[in-house]
Amino acid sequence: MANFQRITPEQLRSRYWFDNPDHPGTTALCIERYLNYGITLDELTSGKPIIGICQSGSDLTPCNRHHIDLVKRVKDGIRAAGGVPFEFPMHPIHENVRRPTAALDRNLAYLGIVEVLHGYPLDGVVLTTGCDKTTPAALMAAATVNIPAIVLSGGPMLNGWRGAERVGSGTIIWELRKRLAAGDIDYAEFLSRASDSAPSIGHCNTMGTASTMNSMAEVLGMSLPGSAVIPAPYKERAMVAYDTGTRIVDMVWEDLRPLNILTREAFENAIVACSALGGSSNAPVHINAIARHAGIELDNDDWQRLGHEIPLLANVMPAGAFLCEEFYRAGGVPAILHELQSAGKLHGDALTVNGRSIGDNLQGRETQDPDVICRYNDPLVDHAGFLNLKGNLFDSALMKTSVISRDFRERFLNDPNDPEAFEGRVVVFDGSEDYHARIDDPALNIDARTILVMRGAGPVGHPGGAEVVNMQPPEALIKQGIESLPCLGDGRQSGTSGSPSILNASPEAATGGGLALLESGDWLRVDLKRGEVQLLIETSELEARRERLAQQGGYRYPGHQTPWQEIQRSMVEPLDRGMTLEPATKYRDVARQHPPR
Ligand code: FES
Ligand code: MG
Repeated sequence: MANFQRITPEQLRSRYWFDNPDHPGTTALCIERYLNYGITLDELTSGKPIIGICQSGSDLTPCNRHHIDLVKRVKDGIRAAGGVPFEFPMHPIHENVRRPTAALDRNLAYLGIVEVLHGYPLDGVVLTTGCDKTTPAALMAAATVNIPAIVLSGGPMLNGWRGAERVGSGTIIWELRKRLAAGDIDYAEFLSRASDSAPSIGHCNTMGTASTMNSMAEVLGMSLPGSAVIPAPYKERAMVAYDTGTRIVDMVWEDLRPLNILTREAFENAIVACSALGGSSNAPVHINAIARHAGIELDNDDWQRLGHEIPLLANVMPAGAFLCEEFYRAGGVPAILHELQSAGKLHGDALTVNGRSIGDNLQGRETQDPDVICRYNDPLVDHAGFLNLKGNLFDSALMKTSVISRDFRERFLNDPNDPEAFEGRVVVFDGSEDYHARIDDPALNIDARTILVMRGAGPVGHPGGAEVVNMQPPEALIKQGIESLPCLGDGRQSGTSGSPSILNASPEAATGGGLALLESGDWLRVDLKRGEVQLLIETSELEARRERLAQQGGYRYPGHQTPWQEIQRSMVEPLDRGMTLEPATKYRDVARQHPPR
């Protein structure tokens, strides 16, 4: 247990607002309006920590909606520990519904949380999370403001079932689209089967971006050990909500802050654990962003260097066979960490919100079911982390190796002299509308060896960055049994997708990235061993194309639809740098460096 110098009631941050004799008028104004719904003077002025609860649930955000009830247990915990809870809303973020993309909301919610944490009388905060971007938005803000903070995830949905078959959220959609395209099912059947994947409250029950990022919050040390993947309806979920409430009050007294926890070691643990989980391809974007706000330079080379060799241990969709309910019962995140620690792959000293090191938290937490959480020396895939590919078209693009299927290997990585490389002719699409309009056009001559390219889908080209790189082959190929083709793009893809795409290519076409120079019919060489993707073309021809594009005014993309789209586009950084707002990343430890005045 770390030794903390406890602060006194006089040192509580909220005293500035509620007990500030230097500003008696201000204090009176702050106090009087909170009394108007029945808070007592005693609660505000007797030295109790004021604890914010950042509420990410709403009717617009079904993945997080049960936090509306769950925070009652958080408040019980806060009061039992001697604090006073104040609930406030997070800007709603719902992955599936938000148009043009929920990725616009991550940075917007981040800004909102920063302003609330900085500008209101809060001594600590409980950050409720769930759906994909709620978790990084909350953690980025916690890092920037640096008041004591703890993450409470809402937990995944129960397993989805169709008869005896597991139906994983998101993952089933990609599968059903192919069945629909092949004519095996009709639209009514498509909807019925899709809804099987969502049987209860909670976020996606696969190891998509939500389960990955909430697991990452736990690995980073920012939520209570063992809490990340407790299914939303389980009684343990309400219990850990209560424990989270009691713990944040102690964290305030201990002055235990996010920047004490979010160290380089913690981020390296996150990279390693993400590989073992078969985590979402969105994780590097979000983790790099949280790191940047914590003042730590983390890049995709770190992901390959530390993560690629790590084996796949979690047998959870899309990389594996089970779902999060089984993953929780098998031991959840602590069991994964236990295996990594036994293999010497974890920084065991990294501090966590319970005041203990991550290593101390793992005693007795080994896997309860090696079919679901494998032993380190008996994994599902030997090297499961991301490759950071480079070449003459981009500086960085990720490939999630845990989802490279046997079929993909047999079709593309089958040259006995060069088993990690393949070449293919490309067909290029400019955004998802272009893809949907043309993919079935026979004139494109797409065959079983074609590489599909998606550009104009990065944070600037498609404001926020679109999850569109995992492109389905034309219907005609699917009917012949070709269910996937290699995909490459400057956008992202859903964490629930099992496609081994080369994605997040940075810089993107819209900001001068080389994908803008690609033409359908070009040939690409992908060499996983060398970590390269090269356009097979004379350098002089590439330069001539670059010149022509510059003369045309650069790569064209659709205009802004809202003020925020324009603002974000003017300052957003590429995906490999976390898609952060560039001016925001210089603010650090805001609550102490810029006290309220
Ligand atoms: Fe919200 Fe997957 S859509 S967690
Ligand atoms: Mg998503």
